[in-house]
Amino acid sequence: MATAVYQDLLRWFLLAVFGFMLIGGKLALAAQSPEQVGAMLKVMRDSAGSPFFPVVMQILQVLTWALHILFVWTSVGGLFYAIYGFTRKDENHQRLARAMLELSKVSVSLAIVIGVAPLLFYQVIYDPLWYSSANLSGSWYMMFIVFLLIGYYLIWFAYFSKQKPQVAMLFSVGGVIFLLLVGFIIHVVNYQSLFPEKWVEWYTSGGTTMNHSGWGIYAFNIFRFLSLLVFPSIAVVGVFMMLYSWHFGKRPEFSKEYIDFSAKLGAKLALYGGAAWIVFHILYILTLPADWNAKGSIFTLLSVVGLLLCAGIIFMAQKNPIGMAIPSLFGGVLATLLIAVFREYLRVASTARFGYSIYDYKVNLEWLSPLLFVGTTLGGLVLYAYAWWMAFQAGRTPQGQIYEASETEHHLGELSVFLVALWAVVFIGTGLIVIARNYL
Ligand code: HEM
Repeated sequence: MATAVYQDLLRWFLLAVFGFMLIGGKLALAAQSPEQVGAMLKVMRDSAGSPFFPVVMQILQVLTWALHILFVWTSVGGLFYAIYGFTRKDENHQRLARAMLELSKVSVSLAIVIGVAPLLFYQVIYDPLWYSSANLSGSWYMMFIVFLLIGYYLIWFAYFSKQKPQVAMLFSVGGVIFLLLVGFIIHVVNYQSLFPEKWVEWYTSGGTTMNHSGWGIYAFNIFRFLSLLVFPSIAVVGVFMMLYSWHFGKRPEFSKEYIDFSAKLGAKLALYGGAAWIVFHILYILTLPADWNAKGSIFTLLSVVGLLLCAGIIFMAQKNPIGMAIPSLFGGVLATLLIAVFREYLRVASTARFGYSIYDYKVNLEWLSPLLFVGTTLGGLVLYAYAWWMAFQAGRTPQGQIYEASETEHHLGELSVFLVALWAVVFIGTGLIVIARNYL
């Protein structure tokens, strides 16, 4: 992952710097007109074009970002609660803190792996935005990887010391600080990219110098940061606790008292975290620049409606958190998808000011790699369906017993193994054919 990010950074560094120097440098002294900004954006596009229709890339980017951020929320939220839970003497808190630390540990890996997907789709259709902004804060962007590694190791240290609550708590504090730093960097890079009209001014300090150290932070929006990272993490870990109680409540070694405790606590966290999420989401909307014409847009309204709807479900769940765990999950998924669409809409609204649209991106249609992508996705879905279904069944089986798979489940397992083998043959085979074609 790190190598891919570095390679991409290097590949685009030159282009972005040249873009700034050739176009930006000349215009730096005078404010750029919207047409000039539009021209700057277009010249920074990859001349190879997009290998597939931009709208498909855009949809995949939105969907994969929603999945990425879900795991970011469970990692950060899991740590938030673990820190609190480890400081409490009560055994229920201690036990739940250990469980949420486990959630966080697993979620970070998933957030990292799934984060690659929106990165790939994003950089294909929004390369002028992503690479310019990443170069402006390039040194911070490199530190992203270092901070992520440190945070990840700290979470593992917390996990290994979970029987010593105070030590585990301290490591969890370290872990969450580094994850929030990572979130801060990615927030800055995303947020700066929405203001192409300011890049040249930022890069040249208004035409007087060239800021190429990469240590500049030029834009940060506290409301966006809190509403996309901090408060959703609290709300989402609350919903997760409700689901945890729903799932494990059927197992004898989970006492009713502990299950009720975690479900009720989860519902409360979801309610308070969710309320703060809505407030800060609205505050962020209020800070949107007027020339984006985005405040009253249908996508903006839908993002608020989604959150309110979810809040309504969580409100009803207070009396019966276990029974309402699944509806809360659906409400949360809907709200997250609408937020993801809203974020993407903001990019469209911001760039539309300069007559820029990803839909005019040059398409250099290629069928084989999208086909490989679709095949991998479909195969992966079957594989994951099998793995997750089995994990679900195993999680419901009382300790000491072994879950016996049904005949259909066995067949699904065989199909999964077959698909993985087929995928490996096609993947390695395609590579070998390409190498042979190049050299023979
Ligand atoms: C576990 C640590 C991480 C945290 C806390 C985190 C947090 C975030 C946050 C808060 C945002 C939204 C920022 C904003 O728009 O203001 C975001 C977006 C994004 N993250 Fe992560 N992230 C993490 C890891 C990663 C990794 C490892 C990758 C890539 C390999 C990644 C790729 C992305 C991408 C591409 C976006 C923007 C997608 C888009 O705009 O459509 N993230 N992340």
